[in-house]
Amino acid sequence: MIIYNIGLLVGIVPEGVLRKEGKEQGETGILENAWLRIEDGRIAGFGTGSVKEGDIDACGGMVMPGFCDSHTHIVYAGSRDSEFLDKINGLSYEEIAARGGGILNSADLLNRTSEDELLRQSMVRVNEMMEKGTVAMEIKSGYGLCPEGEMKMLRVIDRIRRTVPAAVRSTFLGAHAVGRGYSRKAYVQAVIDMIPEAAKWADFIDVFCDEGFFTVEDTDRILTAAKGLLTPKIHANELAVSGGVQVGVKHGALSVDHLERTTDAEIKVLKGTGTMPTMLPGSSFFLGLPYGRAKDFIKAGLSVALASDYNPGSSPCGDMRFVMAQGCIKMRLTPIEAFNAVTLNSAYAMGISKDYGSITPGKKAALILTEPGWDLTRMAYQYQTPCIRKVIQ
Ligand code: NIG
Ligand code: FE
Repeated sequence: MIIYNIGLLVGIVPEGVLRKEGKEQGETGILENAWLRIEDGRIAGFGTGSVKEGDIDACGGMVMPGFCDSHTHIVYAGSRDSEFLDKINGLSYEEIAARGGGILNSADLLNRTSEDELLRQSMVRVNEMMEKGTVAMEIKSGYGLCPEGEMKMLRVIDRIRRTVPAAVRSTFLGAHAVGRGYSRKAYVQAVIDMIPEAAKWADFIDVFCDEGFFTVEDTDRILTAAKGLLTPKIHANELAVSGGVQVGVKHGALSVDHLERTTDAEIKVLKGTGTMPTMLPGSSFFLGLPYGRAKDFIKAGLSVALASDYNPGSSPCGDMRFVMAQGCIKMRLTPIEAFNAVTLNSAYAMGISKDYGSITPGKKAALILTEPGWDLTRMAYQYQTPCIRKVIQ
């Protein structure tokens, strides 16, 4: 299959580059007037000029790798719109949680919802994300907060994985909040006890290591128990400088996510590791938190990935184009830095950048085709004008 009449082919990366670090995050390969050949769903070749016909006419638009969203909580029941007014009236995320709202509110709803109904509600969001150009997504558990509820979530994620064209990775986030009826200590033990069963379904383990949720010691215990079974991806430094980055790096985390409150110490700890710093500007926007120091990370030679954090409490939006725009507008990333953050680097943060995140021979042909006249700059700048013509995956 040939895509012809491509105005701009964007995101060309040589084989073997699994993430972009430092200065290289600001670079990507671009061809004008190009074509691209797909065989067996994979990129088989591309070039410029001469090809005037083929199977798919790109109409002079841009072709780029689809978005990779490495941090979402899109399996949830109902909504938290009832907390929206409290939030508008000035209650913080922590205050809403302390009143029994927040994550516990979602857990109550989820535990009252059947598995089929949970799947149905979640698929609405998965379809929305795919329409907006997401071709790979990570999905977390963490609204069950008891063995039954957590396993129900992991089964739903598995059913999504088996039915959608997008790549899906699954994360066990039993330690998202202390489940109702448990002391923190007893709940940490319950999470540890869930790990062997969770490891049958999930790829990764996550802990909300932050003020008011789980401590560094809790996180260390949980990750020690998961060693060899599930790779860590940690929620760290959203509400406070939590020590989550350090404990994540200690356990070889694939990513540490949020980082709204990062100091230079975390930048230093991450240097030279395989851990992808992942920032979630959607939650900074929705909760009014500081934006992550993406530019400082890149200046220090590190990578940055950006993800949506799509969830009912801190980021009810899975639009990766909006994430990219916020990367530029609020974090001062260049359009190419933001683009690499939502494609190759976020694919790395799911362990799939060998197959996703760039235009590279052999990778999956998981692509976005835009209207004519669009480029990466305009995509981030004119961030709400529809521009995606087609998503191939
Ligand atoms: O990534 N920080 C913890 N978890 C989510 C929020 C989950 C929720 O409020 O439902 C987050 O922001
Ligand atoms: Fe999250």
